[in-house]
Amino acid sequence: MSMRRIVGPEILDGLAADDPAARRSRRDLRRVHRAMGTRTILRRALHRTTASIPDNRPLRVLELGAGDGNLMLGVAHALAPAWPRVELTLLDRQALVSLEMIENYARLGWNVVEQVADALEWAASATDSLPNGNEPARWDLIVANLFLHHFEGTQLALLLNSITARSNGFFACEPRRNWISLAGSHLAGLIGAGAVTREDAVLSVHAGFRDKELTTLWPAVHDEWRIHEYSAGLFSHCLHAERVGRP
Ligand SMILES: C[S@@+](CC[C@H](N)C(=O)[O-])C[C@H]1O[C@@H](n2cnc3c(N)ncnc32)[C@H](O)[C@@H]1O
Repeated sequence: MSMRRIVGPEILDGLAADDPAARRSRRDLRRVHRAMGTRTILRRALHRTTASIPDNRPLRVLELGAGDGNLMLGVAHALAPAWPRVELTLLDRQALVSLEMIENYARLGWNVVEQVADALEWAASATDSLPNGNEPARWDLIVANLFLHHFEGTQLALLLNSITARSNGFFACEPRRNWISLAGSHLAGLIGAGAVTREDAVLSVHAGFRDKELTTLWPAVHDEWRIHEYSAGLFSHCLHAERVGRP
């Protein structure tokens, strides 16, 4: 019997950035990512996009719902030799990126811009431009981790539409919606997760994805994009999309 997708508000999203319970839950996320193997999944997927790196300017990468930027930093360490110049925008509706985090990226040659914004407003704004210039808002790559599953219906469609209109590549790593992930989410306490994370982990699995659900929702003309939707590790579900011909 397959699980129906249920999207509900997560507790972390209703807490202020400086709420101790929110701080605890964001620290828990690091353990959750270790248990899910997210960094390895991301690193492997992003390595495959190496061919499309521009040689005359930095690679422009946007992470939606980036949180404090810690997950991507681990990936940046692995990618930096192949991706030495990156302009990375970390977008989240809460201001969570510390100066220390920005400096850690800078040591790798990655220039980080924090964008505090609601991703739905970002998606709806047709006039969005790069934070540090007047160039049109196009990204070589947009990334989302544990983020898309917050959305459904017209909101999810709006996000995917905007992503396809503004990028040449997209990678999402989300919770896999199946019984194994659900069982795993109920065991989040075993890795030391607090109450907020224990509850959100279960909600996230119910809101997660499976099979070709994201491919079905992908709004662009399919032969303009190479799309690979797959299960990764024990608990993750990924979508990797690359524009085949450059616009
Ligand atoms: C589960 S956390 C994942 C954080 C990070 N991507 C990671 O994997 O560690 C989801 C993040 O999405 C952000 N978020 C949720 N809804 C958002 C929205 N509408 N616009 C921007 N950020 C949002 C939250 O603030 C939170 O930082």
